[in-house]
Amino acid sequence: MNELYLEAKNVLKNSYSQYSNFKVAAALKLKNGKVITGVNVENASFGLTNCAERTALFSAYSQGYRKDDIVEIMITTEQDVHISPCGACRQVMSELMPANAKVHLANNKGEIKTYSNKELLPLAFTEGDL
Ligand code: THU
Repeated sequence: MNELYLEAKNVLKNSYSQYSNFKVAAALKLKNGKVITGVNVENASFGLTNCAERTALFSAYSQGYRKDDIVEIMITTEQDVHISPCGACRQVMSELMPANAKVHLANNKGEIKTYSNKELLPLAFTEGDL
């Protein structure tokens, strides 16, 4: 089975999602071969929740990695349908990952749908718009 999917699936159990009971995990593959994972971390003040994709990306940036170090990301849940990354995550992925980076979405059977970062957020707001 896809290695990056297994990395994400392995950390699903770490999801802190007692309010939604919707576990999400992400695994980010770097050019140096390293994999950085993340899960959704919720809060009693719901709006403060951090999605799994953003947790993984912020963790990578916190370790000093940058856009060009990133190859692809895998996102999975316990559901039999494929997750669709939320708008906030698409905005963050569009800035923090290369435009051509692959975004893989996997269901609980490990079936994968793959998109490019760019196609998930056409007309993204960018630093060039500031
Ligand atoms: N969630 C993610 O982690 N990633 C997404 O792309 C969509 C939603 C989380 C946030 C919240 O903890 C739970 O899923 C339900 O919305």
